[in-house]
Amino acid sequence: SLITLTSVSELRSHLAELRRQGKILALVPTMGNLHQGHLRLVEEARRHADVVVASIFVNPMQFGPGEDFESYPRTLEQDQQMLQSAGCHLLFTPSVADVYPEGQEDHTRVVVPVVSEGLCGQKRPGHFDGVATVVSKLFNFVQPDVACFGQKDYQQLAVIRKLVTDLCFPIRIIGVPTCRTPEGLALSSRNGYLTPEQLKKAPALYAVLKATGQKLAAGNTHFAELSHQARARLAEQGFAPEYVDIRSTDLSPPDIRAREWVILVAARLGKARLIDNLVVHRD
Ligand code: PAJ
Repeated sequence: SLITLTSVSELRSHLAELRRQGKILALVPTMGNLHQGHLRLVEEARRHADVVVASIFVNPMQFGPGEDFESYPRTLEQDQQMLQSAGCHLLFTPSVADVYPEGQEDHTRVVVPVVSEGLCGQKRPGHFDGVATVVSKLFNFVQPDVACFGQKDYQQLAVIRKLVTDLCFPIRIIGVPTCRTPEGLALSSRNGYLTPEQLKKAPALYAVLKATGQKLAAGNTHFAELSHQARARLAEQGFAPEYVDIRSTDLSPPDIRAREWVILVAARLGKARLIDNLVVHRD
């Protein structure tokens, strides 16, 4: 059954023993308030490893001033039950003091250039430095063989892949497809900020992505115009769009001759900031 470890030293000694036994370790980093999407990552991790370590840590460094660090939902007991039934072996729940023993001021930062600029990186300055820094620390704590991340956070996954390459972490990164409600809404802890009415409206985000994707797939490569139309459609439906952008799948500017692209969107709906994306192949 699930073992929860809070201290770094306990974690290190526990994992050292498992490694001595030759076990393959997988890491699934999360901020908790788990849903089916997180559990998909655990299931995928189990396919690649003998021991699955999940972490729950609401990382202050990746939240900007005025963002939801304090109000971010913390539901440890429920999360433990879900991890246990998903077959997760170990849960690591460090404190802020464990992760930032010298405080956060003047802290070393892991900055991943280019892929972390633009899109969410532009709307949330410093966010991806916070993500890259904490994920580097988690990699050093756990030293996993593989780590799983969701494709829902497309730019984050690209940042992590680049981080692992550039800093030579001997870790295989696995991207896991986005888990959605039957209506198409990507599961997210932040969906909990939506009122029942907004929850009914929220799947329109994915509907707009799909409608844009159909035009792209059919050969309409007027990227700027497609993005503009999608933004207008979202605004009509009561969203406050932050961006809709079409890129190459490596997040570089899109090429009209390419065979696949990714459409990325961020929009506010009430108190929630929702993101989603869709990879599109030319018909
Ligand atoms: P969090 O938002 O809790 O997400 C943890 C992991 O679950 C991420 O890899 C994310 O992409 C994945 N995930 C979230 N919703 C998903 C969905 N609907 N389908 C599939 N995967 C989904 O992302 C973070 O935490 C943090 O930035 C973290 C990487 C833990 C660093 O602090």
